Amino acid sequence: MKQLTTPYGELTLDRYPRTTDKNLQAWDAADSYLLNNLHERGELGRVLVINDTFGTITTAIHDSDVTLWSDSKLAEIAVEVNYGHNLFPLHYTFVPSTELPHGRFDTIVIKIPQTNAYFDDILSQLPLLMHEKTQLVCGGMVKFWTNSWPQAVADRIGHSDCSLTWKKARLIFSDGSQLPAKQKPIEQASYDVEPLDMTIRKLSNVYGQGYLDIGARILMQELVPFDDVEHIADLGCGSGELGLMALKMNPKANVEFIDESYQAVLSAQENVAANLPDCLDRCRFTCNDGMINKPRSLYGAILCNPPFHQQQTIGDHIAWGMMQQARRALSNHGELWLVGNRHLNYHVKMMRLFGNCEQVGGNKKFVVLKSIKQPQTKDSSPVRPSESTNGASQQSPYGAARRNSKK
Ligand SMILES: C[S@@+](CC[C@H](N)C(=O)[O-])C[C@H]1O[C@@H](n2cnc3c(N)ncnc32)[C@H](O)[C@@H]1O
Repeated sequence: MKQLTTPYGELTLDRYPRTTDKNLQAWDAADSYLLNNLHERGELGRVLVINDTFGTITTAIHDSDVTLWSDSKLAEIAVEVNYGHNLFPLHYTFVPSTELPHGRFDTIVIKIPQTNAYFDDILSQLPLLMHEKTQLVCGGMVKFWTNSWPQAVADRIGHSDCSLTWKKARLIFSDGSQLPAKQKPIEQASYDVEPLDMTIRKLSNVYGQGYLDIGARILMQELVPFDDVEHIADLGCGSGELGLMALKMNPKANVEFIDESYQAVLSAQENVAANLPDCLDRCRFTCNDGMINKPRSLYGAILCNPPFHQQQTIGDHIAWGMMQQARRALSNHGELWLVGNRHLNYHVKMMRLFGNCEQVGGNKKFVVLKSIKQPQTKDSSPVRPSESTNGASQQSPYGAARRNSKK
């Protein structure tokens, strides 16, 4: 946990998932710049905060009537955790990116997302959430800045102005006075996936816009049917290609599609509905932080192409958390199939966790690895929880605390 001084007061903030890397914190200069700007405006009225990765902005302005609109389950948890750290009552509304917030807002704050298509998608929906006097302010870091950002705001909202640079961050301003009468529709990415013989579509913030990930393709090539397995999980499912393959190959198994992105889970659901509608009753679609709060020892197989970064931070901490969660959720003799960049050396971690790891495929760049959960004798777990590199817990980090949402 670290302290951030804001014009709204001193805050105690943490990233979620927690990391042991002391250089990482829950905010950047763009968050601070946005908070300074909001504070100068005084009374904010009804506020919509969009894409607040670790809930820093939402937590700082907790005294306002605030709604957080986000694609991320991790952000949803981060806000709850950070409100808890500061002992703030959980008075805010969370709306997933796949739904439209209710009513119109006086102030809209956007932390500009990594994906330009998602930024454009958000902006295209804003006219429905703005009135003539709504103030819009967007913040981003100069190292990621592109002129397409202010241009997108001007195209979608009618006009835009930019701030000067402050601590390597900049802001874009607009308001609801010149909203265009019509919006150009968003084009959904779609492509054919030959190993599946299906067309896959994905919403704007889903991983791999317009292409099948190379790692996913290699894992699909190696996949074999799982005899007598009742429950399979596609962990970090994205648009659901791995789970679709598992559905096809295992006509009796139930497949659960899990991702922390609301758009990913919805895309996976729409892809099953479009390509294998008869299989829908064998599927579950869950927006979740990995396998946290999933039943222990249920799944006979888990397929995973883990992320190697969270936002702009590269690292294997999310993958490590997923491996630990997978081990807990697998039944005895259950198999974890995981694909990753060869240089990440995931086999070392899987070996340590499961006591076995086989390379079942790969190429120069990627490896497909398989570990089998061995029946445990008492206390025979190869890794003790304290050895976790990221402190990822197996249960919800926010325990029994529940949001007292205004929704
Ligand atoms: C490398 S992509 C793989 C997507 C897809 N399975 C494929 O193979 O193309 C990793 C996925 O993991 C998801 N993810 C990241 N962190 C997660 C977490 N803590 N819990 C669940 N999903 C997560 C991301 O949203 C992303 O969709």
